[in-house]
Amino acid sequence: MTRKLHLNLFVHGRGHHETAWRHDGATPLALTDISYYQQLAKMAEAALLDSVFFADALALGEEIGHVAKGGLEPVTTLAALATVTERIGLIATASTTYTEPYNLARQFASLDHISGGRIGWNIVTSWVQGAGPNFGYDQQIEHAERYARAFEFLEVVTKLWDSWADDAVLDDRVSGRYADPERIRRIDHAGRHYKVAGPLNLPRSPQGRPVFVQAGSSTTGRRFAAQYAEAIFTAHLEKETAIAFYEDIKTHAAALGRRPGQIIILPGLSPVIGSTEEEAHRIWRDLNELSDPKVGLARLSNRFGGHDFSHLDLDRRLSVDDFPDPVRVQAAQSRAQVITSLVARERPTLRQLLHSLAGARGHFTVAGTPERIADIVEDWFRSGAADGFNIMPPILPSQFTVFTEQVVPVLRKRGLFRTEYEGSTLRERYGLERPASQFFPGPRRAGARGSVSPRGPANEDASARKSPVTEAV
Ligand SMILES: Cc1cc2nc3c(=O)[nH]c(=O)nc-3n(C[C@H](O)[C@H](O)[C@H](O)COP(=O)(O)O)c2cc1C
Repeated sequence: MTRKLHLNLFVHGRGHHETAWRHDGATPLALTDISYYQQLAKMAEAALLDSVFFADALALGEEIGHVAKGGLEPVTTLAALATVTERIGLIATASTTYTEPYNLARQFASLDHISGGRIGWNIVTSWVQGAGPNFGYDQQIEHAERYARAFEFLEVVTKLWDSWADDAVLDDRVSGRYADPERIRRIDHAGRHYKVAGPLNLPRSPQGRPVFVQAGSSTTGRRFAAQYAEAIFTAHLEKETAIAFYEDIKTHAAALGRRPGQIIILPGLSPVIGSTEEEAHRIWRDLNELSDPKVGLARLSNRFGGHDFSHLDLDRRLSVDDFPDPVRVQAAQSRAQVITSLVARERPTLRQLLHSLAGARGHFTVAGTPERIADIVEDWFRSGAADGFNIMPPILPSQFTVFTEQVVPVLRKRGLFRTEYEGSTLRERYGLERPASQFFPGPRRAGARGSVSPRGPANEDASARKSPVTEAV
């Protein structure tokens, strides 16, 4: 089978560029207007993209005076998108650090039911500094501790999603049996961070579990990704580092007994598209010229866990000595690494660095014609740097419209991108298997409600039958 490219739309404010919200090509709708997000999801679906994705930060940050942020909460947003779309995958970010596993498992199972199996969960540990104080902590929880919780969190939610067999609901009005309690079980998890009895209080969803998406690329983040991720968002400014990352993840996953094809890797790409190279560069320049160094400095400081850069001259060339060591940063270590590598390689002035981060915060940004964008996509895809891309339009919706109308057809003509949707779930779209329940791995029994059949070994786990569920309320 020929390998097909995957494309995800990353929705962010009125576009990924920091100044996009002031641009004529940006939506006039409020960031709290659901019709804006519905319109984007429908556009992405009409172009046959795999999925749309919403990030989330658990604190407002300090730049609100000059940056358009404060959009809708992603889980709620997906529920509203699921009812106006039919085929496109929907991915929401939710934090393992500041959510309880039982809440999160219910929400994502509900979304997967509502959407007919189109949901992905972007698993994050929440890097923003202001998050801790919003959840009862004096300060942000440290990087290592956040990941320690994340590993256990995944164990718990996975058990919760598996706590119902696919055929547990009978809904048999004649016999009066609604569900088979032998096919629903407690999880009785007791670990260092979480104590959860279970079972979940709703049936297993169409995909069994949402697609596990992950976006942290530090050393610990990669270990986590190799174990759990099924799709990975990542930021690379150079094809070579993207190839090294791709190989590293797939090698680690194989060492853990996973099949490398069951993880798709989607680097970020922010394409500034013009009908000529000059026009594309003019759009990019115009956006950069609107940017405010004070906003850029606040964002840079955030990326480095609150480090102060304000004493640096805007027009002096930077060196890595101006930055804290990325492995000691308590925010997102991988993004700190991307930024310091850029400084080591290009020695930009602070002003130039702020301009390049204003575009897409350290993701790969390129200005060019549709053909040139398609060339880059094809080159990275064929070179083993990517299974597809996380598309981050600098201005929404105008630059996304250009992407769907002028870049996607070129990719299609080159045989890289689909001409019709395959399957109905996000797992099918990404070429991922549906996981069997760890407690009820056998096939569905005839007569059970629903039409989903799990893949997996045919023998039921006898130990799973031992703890019938207590009476549900
Ligand atoms: C495309 C992309 C999207 C991300 N979205 C979020 C997000 O919505 N919320 C968040 O807290 N972190 C987000 N992150 C950051 C990571 O998920 C991760 O929490 C952070 O990078 C810290 O992990 P690390 O030190 O392993 O890189 C995103 C990263 C990438 C590449």
